[in-house]
Amino acid sequence: MPASAKVILRKNLGRALRQGHPWIFRDALVEAPAVPGGAVVTVAGRDGRTLAHGYWDATGPIAVRVLDLLPVRDVQVLVCDRLRQALAKRLARLDRNQTNAFRWVHGEGDGLPGIHVDLYDQVAVVRFDGAGARAFYRDLDHLLAECSAPLRLSQVVDREQRASLGEIEVRENCIRFIVDLGRGQKGGLFLDQRENRHAVAARAAGKSLLNLYGYTGGFSLYAAAAGATRTDTVDSAKPALATARRNFQLNHLSLEHAGFHATDALAFLDQAARRTRRWDIVVSDPPSFAPSRRALPAARSAYFRLHRLAATVVAPGGLLCAASCSSHFPRDEFLASVERGAAAAGRRFGLEAVTGAGFDHPALPAFPEGDYLKFAIGRID
Ligand SMILES: C[S@@+](CC[C@H](N)C(=O)[O-])C[C@H]1O[C@@H](n2cnc3c(N)ncnc32)[C@H](O)[C@@H]1O
Repeated sequence: MPASAKVILRKNLGRALRQGHPWIFRDALVEAPAVPGGAVVTVAGRDGRTLAHGYWDATGPIAVRVLDLLPVRDVQVLVCDRLRQALAKRLARLDRNQTNAFRWVHGEGDGLPGIHVDLYDQVAVVRFDGAGARAFYRDLDHLLAECSAPLRLSQVVDREQRASLGEIEVRENCIRFIVDLGRGQKGGLFLDQRENRHAVAARAAGKSLLNLYGYTGGFSLYAAAAGATRTDTVDSAKPALATARRNFQLNHLSLEHAGFHATDALAFLDQAARRTRRWDIVVSDPPSFAPSRRALPAARSAYFRLHRLAATVVAPGGLLCAASCSSHFPRDEFLASVERGAAAAGRRFGLEAVTGAGFDHPALPAFPEGDYLKFAIGRID
């Protein structure tokens, strides 16, 4: 094993690293080593004691992504072992006859920091978090193919170079989805909401459902298949809504009681509130309003306004299912926003359940930055 370059820490991060925090920001270093991005480095404290091992990113704000507290003897073996473990965990819980689209690798949560790998049937879509990750995982195509048994991979696609790809069909809990691999958001589907879509479906029989920020119809399809009396899907992206309509047809679900509204969700809610329209279940799954810490003040008021309006259009005794996918918006604050929004609408939000992303998006206890998705289900009185 060749000796790796040493990165000396200015800050005392020993405890955080031992607990499993996988990021070292550039401002925590004494100086940068003269190694190319992707090189394996040894992280040491000021006293010279080795603390962890990771790979170097020469450009991004995260200078080192930690791979292990023990030395990395063989990078390919480490990556392969972790790819296999991650896949085995997914396949132990998912029936591929029912679900063939899921997240195979959730970066830091699977011990493979800096990459996300989503599987759409036989196509793996990879996201690299920066140039360091791209260099460290330069053999990822081959490693994914090598470690994919018992799956068969037909293609590995870089999320940033997928424009020429077309549509495929996948299934999630037996619901069929058309996925536009070339132009779809987040590489295709928002796979992190699979279990929450299932939770909403379990409550949807005989109910009407408003699906705000509905993308290609996920929550609406699940609800309609579970016997919802009516669904309304709202999204500002016209192509996504056109796919939502096609997804209804693909699943042999009637379009007669399905509305598709290509408009801004808040504008739709404003109008619906004025017309006193009501739904038994309202799902709100907006894009991140707080992509950075600096965006938090504006995000707080946007979430509050959304939660107030969404609560307004829930029928008495109905359900509000509200999501936030911003890791900068803490869980407690998010829940308080839903409650305050409901109160401002003259309603009461009675929390029934709070969940996060599905099990194929594992979060590390010592790494709150990775725990981004919140999903609150509550009764509106
Ligand atoms: C997190 S995704 C929703 C995923 C969806 N719930 C699902 O299960 O597939 C957010 C969606 O919000 C849509 N969007 C963004 N801004 C919007 C706006 N102002 N009004 C309505 N939809 C918007 C995006 O097009 C995207 O489809």
